[in-house]
Amino acid sequence: MNLAVTDLPGHSVVPVVPSEPLVLTVVIPTFNEAQNVREIVRRLDRTLSGICWEAIFVDDNSPDGTADTVKEAGASDRRVRCLKRIGRRGLAGACIEGMLASSAPFVAVMDADLQHDETILPRMLDALTSGSADLVVGSRYVPGGSADSLAPQRAKISRAATGLARRILGVEIADPMSGFFMLRRDKLDDIADRLSTIGFKILLDILMTAKNSLRVAEIPFEFRERTHGESKFDAQVGLEFLGLVLGKLTRGVIDPRFITFALVGTTGLAVHLIALKLALETFARNFSTAQTIATVFAMATNFLLNNALTYSDRRLSGLGLLWGFLGFCLIGAAGAITNVGLASWLYSQEPTWWLAGAAGAIMGALWNYSMSSQFVWRTR
Ligand code: GDD
Ligand code: MN
Repeated sequence: MNLAVTDLPGHSVVPVVPSEPLVLTVVIPTFNEAQNVREIVRRLDRTLSGICWEAIFVDDNSPDGTADTVKEAGASDRRVRCLKRIGRRGLAGACIEGMLASSAPFVAVMDADLQHDETILPRMLDALTSGSADLVVGSRYVPGGSADSLAPQRAKISRAATGLARRILGVEIADPMSGFFMLRRDKLDDIADRLSTIGFKILLDILMTAKNSLRVAEIPFEFRERTHGESKFDAQVGLEFLGLVLGKLTRGVIDPRFITFALVGTTGLAVHLIALKLALETFARNFSTAQTIATVFAMATNFLLNNALTYSDRRLSGLGLLWGFLGFCLIGAAGAITNVGLASWLYSQEPTWWLAGAAGAIMGALWNYSMSSQFVWRTR
């Protein structure tokens, strides 16, 4: 017969407390990293001997079954946990959720692909426990570190982004783009609600959100080559970085996601004109038909681009894509009415055509953005 503890007479639940308190959580974001899971656990076990640690893999439902591999490992090793997210994507968001799931006083973030040198983890922890730093960065750009394994093209991008962050954003450390760091969990909790879940640049975001209030130390490491799987860094990640920079430059007044939305909207005009010209030159009998076709075409491209870029972390697919498009068109139509209404009223008060026109257009864009975020690409 199976009895739960609480079914026993006079018995209250007695928690099972492990003998040692947890010290360190290593958060490991994964997307298609099944082949690296076992090896990384083996290495953590070796390098963190004597430290009470756990690893939280945050997996975005990878098609290669990474989460299953993690759970297999976790079934026989309680230090290994899996946080599986469904219908979501994004490195920064995964890191934040992993850190928020930790109960340890110290949390680290490390890639799953073995490119980060896990053997410096104990030294990173020492810097925190000794009280000399609040945040320790595994750095490629201080003496002793290297990023030689980056392809030339990627190395250039990395250097440019680092320069941008240091000059424009005033971040002082050598490698603010590193994806390898450790910090006090209380410091993370203080700022967690202000961090962006978009893009790759979680460390940069932490540094800027904490506004240089953290004492930072850098420990060099050699960025290794990837042996299994492939990088998820692409043009979109670059775009998201620019959005983050702009958002921070405007002190959060401009939502980085709105910047992408507005950029997509602007390209929509070009798409519209090209489609209009093509339609006129080929099959359209009259202008109205051509304009209608161009409008539908531009709306569809706009919708698909927003689905791919602006809302890449909550992409719609299948039937959801169709419903989403219908909603997007309805919102757009209502937005156009708001836009014209506002512009006409403004014009009646102050007849400066471009002022009234621009105000209407901006209002329409903000309407479209906020409604789409809420109803078309809502978080699940
Ligand atoms: N959960 C989740 N969701 N994990 C992700 C996602 C995602 O959408 N995208 C990437 N990851 C995981 C990968 O599986 C890997 O463990 C880690 O995040 C880093 O991704 P890579 O695709 O290997 O990135 P990279 O090697 O090109 O970039 C790394 O180095 C950069 C510096 O050059 C990262 O550490 C960057 O943060 C770092 O700036
Ligand atoms: Mn990598």
